[in-house]
Amino acid sequence: MYKIAVIGGDGTGPEVIREGLKVLDAVNARFGIEMDYTHFDFGGERYLRTGELLPETAVSDLRQFDAIFLGAIGHPEVKPGILEKEILLKLRFELDQYINLRPVKLYPGVQTPLKDKTPEDIDFVIVRENTEGLYTGSGGVLKKGTPDEVAIQTSINTRKGVERCIRYAFEYTRRRNRGKTLTLCAKTNVLTFASDLWERAFNEVGEKDYPDIKREYAHVDATTMWMVKNPEWFDVIVTDNLFGDIITDLGAMVQGGLGVAPGGSINPEGVSTFEPMGGSAPKYTGQNVVNPMAAISAAMMMLETLGEEKASAQVEGAMVEVMQKMKSMSAGRMGFTTTQIGDMVAEKAVK
Ligand code: IPM
Ligand code: MN
Repeated sequence: MYKIAVIGGDGTGPEVIREGLKVLDAVNARFGIEMDYTHFDFGGERYLRTGELLPETAVSDLRQFDAIFLGAIGHPEVKPGILEKEILLKLRFELDQYINLRPVKLYPGVQTPLKDKTPEDIDFVIVRENTEGLYTGSGGVLKKGTPDEVAIQTSINTRKGVERCIRYAFEYTRRRNRGKTLTLCAKTNVLTFASDLWERAFNEVGEKDYPDIKREYAHVDATTMWMVKNPEWFDVIVTDNLFGDIITDLGAMVQGGLGVAPGGSINPEGVSTFEPMGGSAPKYTGQNVVNPMAAISAAMMMLETLGEEKASAQVEGAMVEVMQKMKSMSAGRMGFTTTQIGDMVAEKAVK
């Protein structure tokens, strides 16, 4: 019995999570997997209603679960930065989810903006460090609002933090067994302290423990060029928090948009969160028009991470069949409603 914490969150989050759960129920029935869902109402809606961001016990409560399935956190009436820092990032940091895993896979029938690229060309995974770098909130401001204002925002890179991320990426590359190539994405030509630490850790760990994995290096600016021009060059990319944030959005576009892009904030030794990357999409809320594929895909990643590989493969097969029937992956243009897509995937997932 898996204990799953479900946070539907804001906007269209609950709508897409509902379809994800529908598909999970279907595939779980077929494979005899049992999941017990506990719903939490964290998010902007709750914050506006109660003034509380996360209850004091939230982190210790969530630690008791096998995984967290998250819709979206974000509210147009809450100033940017509050929900992000106090809910999303807080959970990532407190649960020590030090990996952000973002598969970039173009499925058959899905349109990519990249001309002449096919599912064969677009199939790579970005491993983003998720608890350090420029995201730690380290730094400060002096003389704020005056002409002499000074703002310092520091990138923290610890050998331990970097090395555990790099090791995860090597292990993942080995397990994935596709191109057996891990590319370090950094900026060694300018960030001669931080990227240098990354590069040394990457080469030392790779040489000693992963001689079967080919090591490549790309500067982050060049990485964005190659993701567009030659995405087929990539197998697994490992990078720091902010570079990872930026290139994973590019990855989402390359694989057909936010409607299909899932992600996981992973603690390989603890509890991990799986979520669609699309955000709360306030303008589509309650209309039954957003694409639930990213949420279904996040559910698939959750199954895989829990070790339910057959069930996860079954969901992927079902998704592929349904995606080929859809007119578009964009909200409102799919040719089906949100619920219809969930129904169709669920129906295929039990067969
Ligand atoms: C992501 C998001 C978050 C990030 C925001 C919402 C804090 O963009 O998951 O990539 O920057 O990590
Ligand atoms: Mn992002």
